[in-house]
Amino acid sequence: MNEKSAETVVFIAATGNRHKVAEIAAFMRFFGIEILSKDEAGVADFEIAETGATFEENAYIKADAVLACAGKPVIADDSGLMVDALKGAPGVHSARFSESGTDEDNNAKLLALLKDVPEGKRTAKFVSVITILYPDGTAIVARGECAGRILREPKGANGFGYDPLFVPLAHDRESRTFAELSMEEKNAISHRAKALAALREKLIEAGYHGKK
Ligand code: IMP
Repeated sequence: MNEKSAETVVFIAATGNRHKVAEIAAFMRFFGIEILSKDEAGVADFEIAETGATFEENAYIKADAVLACAGKPVIADDSGLMVDALKGAPGVHSARFSESGTDEDNNAKLLALLKDVPEGKRTAKFVSVITILYPDGTAIVARGECAGRILREPKGANGFGYDPLFVPLAHDRESRTFAELSMEEKNAISHRAKALAALREKLIEAGYHGKK
């Protein structure tokens, strides 16, 4: 165990999503890093305009906004779905693709736009970018992607967002969507899992060696 893993470092999560905070916190505990939600850190909940053109820009915007209030290292993530036939849309606009921004309307809009796109061309990928930003301006950025394809109708009741329409490549033979996988199965192959794996490497490079 090196110096950095011996001390407990507190990071603030920029996301307001409790599930994501729990997932990130479980991962970071390995490195002796405790994650506080914005709420727990006493950071007021305020709207952050995600005006970036890339997931990297948006993760940075979120981290920077929370760092300005918290004054402590911050971890932020941004994610979304990129569909090849739509030139990468909905991309950074995934959460508010449709006017209402509900999962149901977002999925309906996606299906309508892909109505005439044949099977072989319905390829897509989920992307997740996780950024750690320190008060001195240093950033650690990790990206994960999960390739797959978009079905013609939703299947499955688990997960959220575009999960019922997305069949990951790893499950191509059985055609199960993300929404038909258990949380453990999805967490083993998802874009977020891959971003966290990349983050693990970068944290080790940065001197956090984790707990034995
Ligand atoms: P954000 O990173 O929380 O801003 O999420 C952006 C949007 O991307 C979500 O609202 C979902 O629509 C979509 N998205 C991101 N990750 C996933 C996923 O794992 N499954 C389904 N949809 C996702």
